[in-house]
Amino acid sequence: MKKIFVIVGARPNFIKVAPLMETLKENKNFQTILVHSGQHYDYFMSKVFFEELDISEPDYYLNVGSGSQGYQTAEIIKFTEELLEKERPDLIVVVGDVNTTMASSIAASKLYIKIAHIEAGLRSYDRTMPEEINRVITDSLSDLLFTHSRGANVNLEKEGIDKEKVFFVGNIMIDTIVNNLERIKSREKYKELGLERGNFILLTMHRPSNVDVKETFISIIEALKEIGKRIPIVFPIHPRTDKMAKQFGINLNEIPNMKIIEPLSYIDLLSMENDAKCIITDSGGIQEESTFLNIPCFTIRENTERPITEEVGSNTLVGTDKDKIVASVMKCLDGECKYGEIPELWDGQTAKRIVEVIEHEII
Ligand code: UD1
Repeated sequence: MKKIFVIVGARPNFIKVAPLMETLKENKNFQTILVHSGQHYDYFMSKVFFEELDISEPDYYLNVGSGSQGYQTAEIIKFTEELLEKERPDLIVVVGDVNTTMASSIAASKLYIKIAHIEAGLRSYDRTMPEEINRVITDSLSDLLFTHSRGANVNLEKEGIDKEKVFFVGNIMIDTIVNNLERIKSREKYKELGLERGNFILLTMHRPSNVDVKETFISIIEALKEIGKRIPIVFPIHPRTDKMAKQFGINLNEIPNMKIIEPLSYIDLLSMENDAKCIITDSGGIQEESTFLNIPCFTIRENTERPITEEVGSNTLVGTDKDKIVASVMKCLDGECKYGEIPELWDGQTAKRIVEVIEHEII
């Protein structure tokens, strides 16, 4: 029996490993151990996802908590190294692009433990984003690279990564939606918030480039003040955004029709995505989820590592300029919204394909 460590740390990781843990645990060839770094630790940033998506309790919880990029990365390397040395798994599986993903890959590679990276090959080509550094480093250290789009394979090829190690398997986040679609469709969270279906905007925003830079933060807020005059905006607020707004003295309640709420659970958030008129976000995952649900999405970033959501799906990159955001969103409110198609292999079967490859490669 082969020992596999699945290592997670932050909110988007939990959503991605739910279908993987289920598929791995069904396979008698593997002993699957779940490790949580503790990068996210609030109930609404972490535990609620385990409960709602029925993910088993982590076998190890490393309790690293928050800190600067360097501090957090170093703490995760230190703790995972200790654990990996003791447990000596045959493979670690990491997902996405958060600090936990990169830090645990560094620890494993120096102990000659094999690494599988799910969501490999995504590139924004913007190295001011911590996630881009995490992506490049994790991919360069990985032995099995699972991609969600053909464009990601091309990016890896450009970086000289051996084609033999790269597997186009589709998008695991879509497995989680497909597995929960009935619950998502019947949740109707908007009713609890006193809204009408298709008559509100869902907003999420937490990227350092948007909320840690005062001018950018203010430019987005000014756009929202215009948009709020036309339609209610619901904003489940990330702890980073809340902290930075207070630090900059930005009063989010000045936005008309703005409903600020706590971060939402997975099913609640997806229910809000599914029932919104459109979405404004800087999240990577929401660009993909909205593409699958075919809800128009406006991404308030200058670039995206997920161009397929724009090329094939319902996403539009609008940047952070006030006038551009307002013009694009108003066009949709006036009836000209962008809709799209579901990309290749975003079909709910990705976890199965990944486990087949792992089985073939390490047994
Ligand atoms: C991290 C990921 C980002 C991902 C996001 C999803 C990195 C580099 N970034 O960003 O890619 O989109 O998670 O949410 O890994 N905090 C709490 N409670 C928590 C967690 C965080 O209050 O449970 C606060 C802390 O003040 C912390 C701040 O949020 O300093 C930022 O948390 P951190 O994990 O460093 O990065 P995120 O911005 O959440």
